[in-house]
Amino acid sequence: MCGIVGYVGQKDAVPLLMDGLKRLEYRGYDSAGIAVHTAGDMATRICVGRLSELEDSLEKRPLQGRPGIGHTRWATHGEPSEKNSHPHLDGSGRIAVVHNGIIENYQDLRNELEAAGHTFLSDTDTEVIPHLIEQELAGGAEDFEAALLRALRRARGAYALGILFKDDPDTVYAARLGSPLIVGLGQNENYIASDVPAILKHIRQVIYLNDGEIAVLKQDQVLVKDLDGRAVHHEPKTVDMAPEATERAGFETFMLKEMHEQPRVLRSLLEKHVSGHARVQLPEVGFSEDYFQILRRIMIVSCGTAYHAAMYGKFLMEHLTGLAVETDLGSEFRYRSPRIERDTLFIAVSQSGETADTLASLRLARLKKCKVLSICNVPGSSLVRDSDSVMFTDAGPEIGVASTKAYTAQLMAFALLSIHIGRARDEITEEQEKELVAALEGIPDAIHYMLERADHIRAIADKHHDGPSALYLGRRFNYPTALEGALKNKEISYQHAEGYAAGEMKHGPIALINEYLPVVCICTRTEDEVYDKMISNMKEVEARHGRIIAIATDGDKQVASIAEDIIYVPETREEFSPLINVVALQLLAYYAAHARGTDIDKPRNLAKSVTVE
Ligand code: AGP
Repeated sequence: MCGIVGYVGQKDAVPLLMDGLKRLEYRGYDSAGIAVHTAGDMATRICVGRLSELEDSLEKRPLQGRPGIGHTRWATHGEPSEKNSHPHLDGSGRIAVVHNGIIENYQDLRNELEAAGHTFLSDTDTEVIPHLIEQELAGGAEDFEAALLRALRRARGAYALGILFKDDPDTVYAARLGSPLIVGLGQNENYIASDVPAILKHIRQVIYLNDGEIAVLKQDQVLVKDLDGRAVHHEPKTVDMAPEATERAGFETFMLKEMHEQPRVLRSLLEKHVSGHARVQLPEVGFSEDYFQILRRIMIVSCGTAYHAAMYGKFLMEHLTGLAVETDLGSEFRYRSPRIERDTLFIAVSQSGETADTLASLRLARLKKCKVLSICNVPGSSLVRDSDSVMFTDAGPEIGVASTKAYTAQLMAFALLSIHIGRARDEITEEQEKELVAALEGIPDAIHYMLERADHIRAIADKHHDGPSALYLGRRFNYPTALEGALKNKEISYQHAEGYAAGEMKHGPIALINEYLPVVCICTRTEDEVYDKMISNMKEVEARHGRIIAIATDGDKQVASIAEDIIYVPETREEFSPLINVVALQLLAYYAAHARGTDIDKPRNLAKSVTVE
C-alpha cells in the first residue's frame, strides 16, 4: 500500500526521494508525488501511473531542493488521478502532507472545515490533515508542532504521515498511528520511510516509531514526542540487513530471486532451531515445556498466503501435538463472535507484520488475555512489537508482491513448532522427532532440485497459460498447497484459478471440467488411502477430458498414465511434501505470468503490505 519516504540533510532531496520511492514500488501503488523545499519556496511534483512518469516529468522540468517528502499512493478514497495524488496541501500552499492509512472521521472533519471556509481539491481522506493543521495554526497554536499535535488529536483511523512546512525549511515532521513508519538515522542527515529497505543504502540505525508518536527531524537531531508533546526516548536499533538483500542480484525479477533463495532460507532456519542431537529448540519463542503441556487450544489468524500457511500449520499441529487448532482469516475473525479463552495460544502469521486485519485480530486476542505468538518476517514490525513472543522466519526482505520464500519459511516454522510442541506434550517420541527432523533436513536440497527443473515446468506453463481458468486440487496437507498454487497463479498471471479440496470437486467444480480446463492435481505419494483417493479424483477429471497437470513423486508411473503433463518432485514424508510441491506451483505460476507478459513483481491492483482493512 502507500509508501512514504522523507529526507533532511545537506544533499539534494529529489534523487534520494526518487530512489526511496522506487524501493517502495513493491508495496503497490497507482500514483506518486514529491514535495521539496526550494530556495524560499516549496515545490511539488506528482504523476499518475508508474514512477517512470514522475522521472520523465523531472527530466523535462528539473527540480532540486531539501528537505523533502515523497509518496506512492494506493488508492482508497478517490480514483488514481492527479488531484488525488499526494502530497496534499492546505489552502495557503504552505503545508504539504503525504499519508498512508485512512482518516476514518475525514468526512466530519471535512464538513467542519468546509463550513469554516476551507476549499478541498481532492476526493481523499488525507486532504483534511493539512487543512486541519492550517486551521489550528489560525486558531492560535503557537507553532507548527503544536498545530500538528492538535490536528492529530482530532484525527481518527490510521496514519503514517510525512509533513513539510514552507516556513520551517530545515525540518521534516512525521507521525504514526497504526500504519508503519520508521526514522532512519544517518551521518548529518535523517530519513523517514515506510520500511527499512527504502533507505537501507543510507542508514544502519533506525527508530521504530510507536503508535501515537510524532518525530521532528532536523539534519543533526531527531526528537520523538507523544501526542501530548512529551518527549519519548527511543534507543536506536541497528539494522541487521545487507544492502544487497534488496537488489535483484542478476535475476530478471525479485520473485525469481526469492524462489531461488528458498533452499538457503530453510537451511538456515533448520540450523538455527535444530540442535546437534536432532532436537528442535525454540529459545526465541520462550514458552516453557510446562506451558505447552497445559495448553488446550491454538487459534491461528492471518491473511492471503499466510492464511494458507496457517491451514498447513493447523493440519500439522493437529497431527503432531494432539491439540485442537482453529484457523481464521484476519478479515473475518473479529467480525464473528470467536470464543477466545485465556488458555488459548493465539498465533498470528504475517510476512510483513503490518497487515491491518491480522494486527486487529491480534489486538482482540490480547484483550482476551491470551498469549500471542507471531510468526513473522520483519523485525521491528507492528506485529512483532505487539506479541508476547515471536518466531522469525528470517527469509530476508521479500520484494516480489507474490510471497514465495516467506511462505515456505512459514511452513518450516510450523513444522518446527509442531515438532517442538508435540515433544513437549509427549505426543511424539525422541525417535520420531529424529525421523521428522531428518526428513526436514532433506527439504532444502529437494527444493534446489525443483528449481533446477524450471525449464520443464516452463514448457508446461507455456502450453497451458492461455486458457481463461485453471483448477487446483489437493488433499489433506496439500489442500492448502492447492489454494496457494491457485493464488500464485491468479495474482501474477491474472488467469482465473480456483483451489479446491479434491474431495469437494464433485460438489460443484466438476461442472467446470471440459477438454480445455487445466486441472493441476497434487498427487504425491502418501502411506494411506489419501493417495488412492487423489488418483480417483484424477480419474474423474480424465473421464471428463480435463487437462491434468500432475505433481507426483519421482518415478510414479500410475500418475503418469493419467496425466497429460507431469512434474516430478523428490520423495519426502507426506507431512512435509507441501514445502516441495508448492515450489513447483510457484514456478508454474511464474512462467504462466511470463508467457502472459504481466508485471510479475508488481501485479496490478495488489499491494505487498496491506495496511488498511
Ligand atoms: C501473497 O502472495 C499475497 N500477495 C498476499 O496474499 C499476502 O500473503 C497477504 O496480503 C498477507 O500479507 P502478510 O503475510 O504480510 O500479512
